Amino acid sequence: MRVRSGVPEAALRVLREAGLEARVGPLELDGCDALLCLLNDRIDEALLAGAPQLRIVANMAVGTDNVDLAAARARGVAVTNTPDVLTDATADLAWALLLATARRLAWADRYVRGGGFVGWHPELGIGADVTGRTLGIVGPGRIGRAVAERAQGFRMQVLVHDRSSGTSLDELLAQSDFVSLHVPLTPETRHLIGERELRRMRRHAILVNTARGAIVDEAALVRGLREGWIAGAGLDVFEREPALAPGLAELPQVVLAPHVGSATTATRSRMAELAAESIAAALAGRPIPNRVA
Ligand code: DGY
Repeated sequence: MRVRSGVPEAALRVLREAGLEARVGPLELDGCDALLCLLNDRIDEALLAGAPQLRIVANMAVGTDNVDLAAARARGVAVTNTPDVLTDATADLAWALLLATARRLAWADRYVRGGGFVGWHPELGIGADVTGRTLGIVGPGRIGRAVAERAQGFRMQVLVHDRSSGTSLDELLAQSDFVSLHVPLTPETRHLIGERELRRMRRHAILVNTARGAIVDEAALVRGLREGWIAGAGLDVFEREPALAPGLAELPQVVLAPHVGSATTATRSRMAELAAESIAAALAGRPIPNRVA
């Protein structure tokens, strides 16, 4: 079995306790019956074709857009993810980005460290109000619901859009002061937020993305921020991660994070354990928890 470098020790403990031997290292599958991989590993048909013994791919993430699920199904390879355990950490990070963007926290930190703070002024660091405003949640799955729950503390009106809800995406975009994305990346959601959608948003609105970068057309977002279609963006994920769209990093009204939605010690350990538990079940012939394919 192959466990990718960087997977927390908790996974190795689960595998050891199950009597399984894990080789930690790069994405090489020679002779492997199981793979515990990371969200930036591309698991495609070519990789699967070169690993005929493979029985399970356990992705240490809730998103599985890095795995060709159809190819895995066709080859009888199980695929699992790590839901639930990262819901709170990711919702917390979405809120951190929302607040940091609205209240210009990244600018404020740079300003103080750079020695710019030489005296208080009534117009220094003016940001946007959050309390009492309208939050639009696109994709009311587990994380979207957790973000909405937290909005109660800010006495916000919450609008929710998914394919079956009464609020259309256009209505949500036109009415929200903050829009937070919580849909998985699929062919249908790729560039769900493009120029047309950004132009429908309010000029003072802030976009938050902790889901997947390619849900937003990042080049359109850069244009929209430059030209004032919307006021700001808090982004934890990027379309061509880790690369950023040209111009994005130069914009003062964005707050950027390096895909750290689930990055707490306890959350990452639980994700690693879940992935290892799926592998242990698969190799023991038991029902496989968190199976998505
Ligand atoms: C996931 O699990 O899909 C998240 O993006 C990890 O932070």
